[in-house]
Amino acid sequence: MDVLVVGGGGREHAIIKKLKESKDVGKIYALPGNGGIALDAICCDINVMDFEKIKAFALENNIGYAVVAPDDPLVGGCVDVLTEAGIPCFGPNAKAAIIEGSKIFSKNLMKKYGIPTAEYETFDDAGKALEYLEKAPLPTVIKADGLALGKGVVIAETLPDAKNAVYEMMQNKKFGKNGERVVIEEFLTGPEVSVLAFTDGNVVKPMVSSMDHKRAHDGDTGLNTGGMGTIAPNPYYTEEIAQRCMDEIFIPTIEAMKKEGRTFKGCLYFGLMLTESGPKVIEYNCRFGDPETQVVLPLLDGDLFEIMRAVTEERLKDVPVKIKDGSACCVIMASDGYPQSYEKGFEIDIPENLLNRVYVAGAKEKDGKLYTNGGRVLGVTSVEKTLKDAINASYKAAEKIHFANAFYRKDIGKRALEAKK
Ligand code: AMP
Ligand code: GLY
Repeated sequence: MDVLVVGGGGREHAIIKKLKESKDVGKIYALPGNGGIALDAICCDINVMDFEKIKAFALENNIGYAVVAPDDPLVGGCVDVLTEAGIPCFGPNAKAAIIEGSKIFSKNLMKKYGIPTAEYETFDDAGKALEYLEKAPLPTVIKADGLALGKGVVIAETLPDAKNAVYEMMQNKKFGKNGERVVIEEFLTGPEVSVLAFTDGNVVKPMVSSMDHKRAHDGDTGLNTGGMGTIAPNPYYTEEIAQRCMDEIFIPTIEAMKKEGRTFKGCLYFGLMLTESGPKVIEYNCRFGDPETQVVLPLLDGDLFEIMRAVTEERLKDVPVKIKDGSACCVIMASDGYPQSYEKGFEIDIPENLLNRVYVAGAKEKDGKLYTNGGRVLGVTSVEKTLKDAINASYKAAEKIHFANAFYRKDIGKRALEAKK
């Protein structure tokens, strides 16, 4: 069966590489894909938000199954459009994707169903938000309600910073409509864990836990990015904590969505913080994380396509989601200056023997060569028996990959290794 993947980053490259292992998958198309993905799939330059064009492409090319990976098209209803056209899809419909699309929705859902999360208030009036900040404890966390390219969360240490965040979002409309309403919430502390789980709305089957590294520079300094590297499994996520998360968070969340008439089918991403009073939800994403996927899928033991179809057809209970032994580490190689301004267009040199574990995020192909075309350029993943070996192997590989102005963090996995001790 021919398969279509909507999206064009490192996450989509990882999904495509894993799908290629399935005997039931024929041709794979990526919309729009990128220069690196083109080594593994047929890329076609269609915007992820142009649902009518995506639908027409799918029908013309006899697509048997579609995977919608990024947040914007999921929240915008790409799955609804394709499903209506008779194309089975992986990913939640718009009604369910709101779990990521509106932080106010997800916070209210958690409150209503007793799912542990930070205390919060919501505001649609800037004056009221500013007044509330006067007596809110510091640091305080301000979140834009809607999607904001991962930049919609401000942790303010001082009252002027907090007020400025509210001003930027609500009055200056930094994120347009998506920041007109905000959540102001309690600052939590503790190790963070990402858990990506398959769910068909009836059962929930988590993949291996992981740890992202969001800040741009070593020692968790610098600006927040989309993610500079990941490791899996996350050593803080013990079996006991996993069981608590299943009972107190995962199952209650899918049950809550069902009760609200918003059955969630796809990959639900739980961003968790392990606080002293137990695991709490920091955020939900309605999709695979990036770059979590680049460590989670290489450790998935099984046929991704079979699991995805079981999700769509609501028979996930019959299909095992198994995890391989060992650990994985993904180091992201970025363009110097990311997440702010950076130059593009530099030739990328990847040794042939590393291609199978490189996930390309921002690159263009020209005359058979790859050139940088984004902030995050690529990720290189290693799977080894131990975390230490996986980290070493990824850094060894990164040293062999070259492009001008490349930079990457040198401490991916360091905190996890220390936690293991
Ligand atoms: P998000 O974009 O929602 O993933 O948030 C970005 C990062 O902000 C998270 O990974 C956390 O490190 C941090 N964060 C979000 N909410 C809180 C909170 N209530 N307390 C402490 N840190 C938070
Ligand atoms: N790496 C975090 C995310 O995908 O949102």
